[in-house]
Amino acid sequence: MHKRGSFGSRFGAIAAAAGSAIGLGNIWRYPYVVGENGGAAFILLYLLIVFLIGLPCLMSEFALGRFTRKNVFGAFRKLAPKKKWYLIGVLGIVTSFVILAFYSVVAGWTVAFLKDSLINEFSGLSAAAIGSNFDGFVASGWEPLLWTFLFCLITALIVMLGIENGIERYNKIMMPMLLAILLVLCINSFSLDGFKEGIAFLFRPDFSKITVDVALSALGQAFFSLSLGMGTMMTYGSYIRRQDNLLFTSSTVAIADLSIAILAGIAIFPAVFSFGIEPGSGPDLVFKTLPNIFGQMTGGYLLGILFFLLLVVAALTSSVSILEVLVAYCSEELNLSRKKSVIICATLAFGASVVCALSQMPDSSLKIAGQNIFDFLDTFSSSYLMPVGGFFIVIFTGWFFGKQRLHAELSSDGVYKVRYFNLFLFIVRYLAPIAIAFIFFSKIGIL
Ligand code: PHE
Repeated sequence: MHKRGSFGSRFGAIAAAAGSAIGLGNIWRYPYVVGENGGAAFILLYLLIVFLIGLPCLMSEFALGRFTRKNVFGAFRKLAPKKKWYLIGVLGIVTSFVILAFYSVVAGWTVAFLKDSLINEFSGLSAAAIGSNFDGFVASGWEPLLWTFLFCLITALIVMLGIENGIERYNKIMMPMLLAILLVLCINSFSLDGFKEGIAFLFRPDFSKITVDVALSALGQAFFSLSLGMGTMMTYGSYIRRQDNLLFTSSTVAIADLSIAILAGIAIFPAVFSFGIEPGSGPDLVFKTLPNIFGQMTGGYLLGILFFLLLVVAALTSSVSILEVLVAYCSEELNLSRKKSVIICATLAFGASVVCALSQMPDSSLKIAGQNIFDFLDTFSSSYLMPVGGFFIVIFTGWFFGKQRLHAELSSDGVYKVRYFNLFLFIVRYLAPIAIAFIFFSKIGIL
């Protein structure tokens, strides 16, 4: 038997779960997905999905995780012995592996940008030069890999240290600092030529832009940003103390995550329009925009360094939570030591990262369905793998976990009042699964 770690305080649990949620999903992925899907109307849909599907799913994962105190696979084995529900655990493990693979590549870019801002690489460059520098960096193939390797190594070391010593400590100070810098960038946005256009893009909805694909992207982004549908939040839930209020914890996490994303949008889009960057230009968007912002603003040199440092940390607190899903599984189910589990999982994931990074080279033949493997895994995991996992998690919570047990978990055995319990039950039983299924069926053309 391995001794299980647990979070030392309520704040520690919130900081860790928020650390998992807040990351590249907010600062890199959210702006590029907003840009690709036309802006304001997408954001409204996203908001709706976060509260109606994301938050209930987050509460469900916390409840199942804390009740079972196990990794995602073991949790379903315990909850439903001899049934097929453990397959959700298998799916979660596959998804974690896939996400870790491409996530580490983008995180590697942020480490490289930290180095570039330290040596003041961006100053005095035109927007076009910044753009082609980045393209050259990605196209080199080997250079991003170096930084990805470094990032994987640090992730592995933190996870090796264990929950309290590794994960919890870093989040408490760094997340509020990231918020502060984003606020400064938002204020700076006011001074940019593209301010009006950027804000209109973010806040003036054109509902004719909502299509099935837009809805699917919003769903995917909500799952990705809140780390849902693959057992991360279940695993973290298993470390939350019995006396902590799950509703409070989950809503704080959801609101913090959403706020950072919204602020990132305000920081980025005015600059996108000022520097003539195409809003729908995809995963590169933020990396081609940010250096321009720091290049033109007063104090941009120091602020840039600090920003990329915090972004690396935000990415680390997320990658750590992904690796933790795999490591908790290996150490609890396969009886490997924590150290061995970390080495095996991190090495496998890095191997997959190599494939992702190389697939981005311009003449690479590493493609699936016409997309390079990186882009394919990015969209496929968030738009399909995670929502499918989330679908079954809410179904299980609503229909199979047991009403009494669910109530006991959410109220910490009656310590807290669970005011909207019936509404919650209605959402996890009907609304959330039907909404997810509806988007899927419309996508494949059945509805
Ligand atoms: N939510 C994280 C982010 O926004 C990414 C993540 C996805 C983390 C899935 C854990 C699980 O960066």
